[in-house]
Parts: sequence; C-alpha cells; structure tokens
Amino acid sequence: MDQLWRNVSDWLRVLKGQAIGDHISPNRLRDIYSLDLGDKTSQSELNQLVYEYTQKSVNTQSPYFVNQLYGGIDPIAAFGEWITTLLNTSMATFEIAPLATLMEREMIQKIGGFLHGSSDKTCGLMTPGGSQSNLMALLCAKQKLYPDSKEKGWLPNQHVILVSKESHYSFKKAALVMGMGTDQVWGVEVDEYHQMDIEDLKLKIKKAKTENKKVLLVGATVGTTVWGAFDPVSEMSEVCKVDNTWLHIDGSWGGVRVFDSESYKKEWSLGNSFTMDFHKYFNAGLLSAFFITQEKETFELAAQTGGQAYIFHTQEENLDLGPYSLQCGRRVDSFKTWLYWKSYGDEGLRQKVQDGLGVIAQIKAELLQNKNFKLLHDPSFLNVCFQVIDSDGENDQKDNNQKRKDNLHKSIREDLMKSGACYINFSENKKDGTFFRFVLSQNHFNLDHFKVILDSILKSKKTLENF
Ligand SMILES: Cc1ncc(COP(=O)(O)O)c(C=O)c1O
Repeated sequence: MDQLWRNVSDWLRVLKGQAIGDHISPNRLRDIYSLDLGDKTSQSELNQLVYEYTQKSVNTQSPYFVNQLYGGIDPIAAFGEWITTLLNTSMATFEIAPLATLMEREMIQKIGGFLHGSSDKTCGLMTPGGSQSNLMALLCAKQKLYPDSKEKGWLPNQHVILVSKESHYSFKKAALVMGMGTDQVWGVEVDEYHQMDIEDLKLKIKKAKTENKKVLLVGATVGTTVWGAFDPVSEMSEVCKVDNTWLHIDGSWGGVRVFDSESYKKEWSLGNSFTMDFHKYFNAGLLSAFFITQEKETFELAAQTGGQAYIFHTQEENLDLGPYSLQCGRRVDSFKTWLYWKSYGDEGLRQKVQDGLGVIAQIKAELLQNKNFKLLHDPSFLNVCFQVIDSDGENDQKDNNQKRKDNLHKSIREDLMKSGACYINFSENKKDGTFFRFVLSQNHFNLDHFKVILDSILKSKKTLENF
C-alpha cells in the first residue's frame, strides 16, 4: 500500500511542476500516434503507447490549467481512484460493494445533514456528474406531480422548466431526455449581478399559466458556470410555495459552500433537492457528484423499474442503491470521495473553500490596480471575468472596435493554448463582448500563478499585434 501511495503522490507532484503540454491538432495526433486497432501489440509497445499517451494529454495538474471548473486531482483521491479501479466492482448492490455502499450513504446523510440536520428522510445518490443530478431532480419532480407517470407516461411538452438564463446547459439536456423538448426550458432574466430576477420569474410563471403549461421545476443555480453568481433561493422558494412547485438547487459548482457558510446552508435547505460536485473545486477527481433530497418516497420511486427477481434481492436494511440509479453498472465514486473527505475532515474542507475565496480577493485587487486589464464584475465565488485593454483600438469605429477586441481575446487564448503557456477559457455576451473567464479550480493556485497568466496574456497580445 505504502509503495502504491508513494507512486501516485510522487507522480502527481512531478506533473504539478510540468507544463500543460502543447495543443496538438487532431490530424497531427492521428499522424504521430498509433491509433489503429487490429494487430496484437506487444507489452513493450503498449508501454510506449501508455507513455506517449501521458505526454500528449493535457496536464490538468498544472496550475496554469484554469480552463474548466475542474483541475488536477488531489493525491488522496487519486490513490482511492486507483484502488477502486483495481477492485473493479459496481455500486448496484450492497452485496458486491458493501463498504462503498455504506460510504456513499454516509456522505449523503452528512451533506443532507448540513442542510436539514439529522433526518431519516435524507436520501440521494452519487451520480456521474452535476448534469445527471439535474436530470434526477426533474425525474423526482415528475414523480411527485404524477405518481403513475412512470407506468402510464405523461405529457412532457405541456410542462416547462424555469431556470436563469445563465444556468448550465444540462437543464436543456435533461429536458431532452425527459421528452419535453429544449424549448420547454425557459430562461429567466438575470439582474446586474447575474442572479435570477424574481419579477421575471413571476412573469414567466404567469405566462406558463396563460399558455396552459405547468411548471415542472424551478431551478436555482448557486455558482453559475461563467460568473459564479448565486440565485436568490429564499425569494425563489417563496414563489415556488404558491403552487407547491419543485425547487431544485444546482450547486454543482458553488455547492461546496455548505462547508463554510451557515447562511447558504439555511437558504438551500428551502429547496426540494440539491446537487453538489466534489470533482470541481475540491479536486476529488472526475467524477464525484451528489444528488440529495428529503423527498424520500418520491426519490425511491422516481427511477425504480424492477430487477428484484434477479439482482435486487431484498435484504434486512434495504441497502442497495441500484434501484434509485439510472444505471445498472455504476462506478464506485464513493470510496475515493470518502477517503478524501476523511483525510481533510469538515474543517479542512471549510478551510479549502475559505482559502479559495481569499485568493480570489487578491486576484480582484490585482486586476483593479492593473491598468492593462479590466475586471467585469465583483466576484462572488471562484470565477473572475476580465478583459485585456485593447488601447490600439480606441480610435476605431465602435463596431469594428468590438470585433477587433473579441478577436484579440480569442486569438490570445488560442496562442496561449498552442504554446502550452496556459489554458484559460473565454465567454461572450452582448454587453461585454468576448472576455476571459478565469476559474479557481486548482487548490494550490495562488496570486503569483495568476500574475504569470496575466504576463502571458500581455506577451501574447504584443506578439499578435506585431504580427
Ligand atoms: C452550474 C453547473 N451545473 C451543472 C454542471 C454540470 O456538471 P457536470 O460537468 O458534473 O455534469 C456544471 C458544469 O460545469 C455547472 O457549472
């Protein structure tokens, strides 16, 4: 065990210090890597292929990979992941995954407990990501509204889902799977802080009624993908109470604040369901996601479709998690997540969240005093949206100037990726045009790393302007 642990942590330490790797085009990759299948391959050739795979993969362990809402993996989680793979079992039943099942249940109770205190109503599941957690919420909302819809079907496109315009696209995917059609996901306007506008939520509910449509679910996003904004859950809850509408809280990104914020815990307890991911800011490794609800009866029926005769044999405590899942074979995500949580403890994870917010405060101060950059918002979580100042474009016509700025941001990003200096994403909207979206998804990231990124952006800008 010691040896395996040392190997994992040593390798991750090496990766942390290495470059992200050059961005390679698909055609070039096809040319230089032996992708074709057919002939048997020797062990030494396989070893070489594995080595090359590591060299030609994006090194998300690098602090300069700030492109996504996830980054490198924590060594303890990686160790747990390796053990999970070697033991190769499925989460379908207690009998084939005994401790992993109890660990998953323990974490669900614990997260549910943050929101609702200890309660025998708390239930849920680890899912393959926040997207599927959002889908689980829709299934539960439908189950509650129409208890016989599983057997008899329902009228999907007579229903709408109300989420902020800046919510994650997974709600549309979920609507797709539910047979509702993506047009049934109505985007509610946001205010200047990118939070859901409650007046528009009320208007959209009215509109649904006049069109004879039922609101299946209202979704609050706590930590939006681009701006890191938190929707006003308390006010949304008041609105949802009127018609007893299912209120789901998508905390895939910002849900980690259950570890450090009493006020968010209180607010989020008002939802019917909640999702949070440990594979994003916590770096517990893809995937490590939770769907939690207090609607036990509804949840237990929502996805259950039989299998008792050949797999889910009744046992004393009815511990199997398989019946509640949309999968049969399900990866064990619980062990590595539990191990990770066990090693840090609640206090360690609370500190991690606080540390991240502290770094963001420093980044904000840096951007505010740096004349080469413009900060576009007051960061409320771990996202920082900013632009590089394009002084040369000042005298251009307005429209051309905007286009130039947009292209400049996209070209810089491309250039940084190609050179392997940094992976940073961009986003765009009507008001701001194109901008960089930095996300703090690396636990060991600090202000010095951010300054290196700013320098890389300026260097790239200079090169592009001289080209
Ligand atoms: C707010 C939000 N919800 C849901 C998701 C989907 O999560 P996952 O990638 O785990 O499916 C994301 C992903 O970035 C997100 O930002």
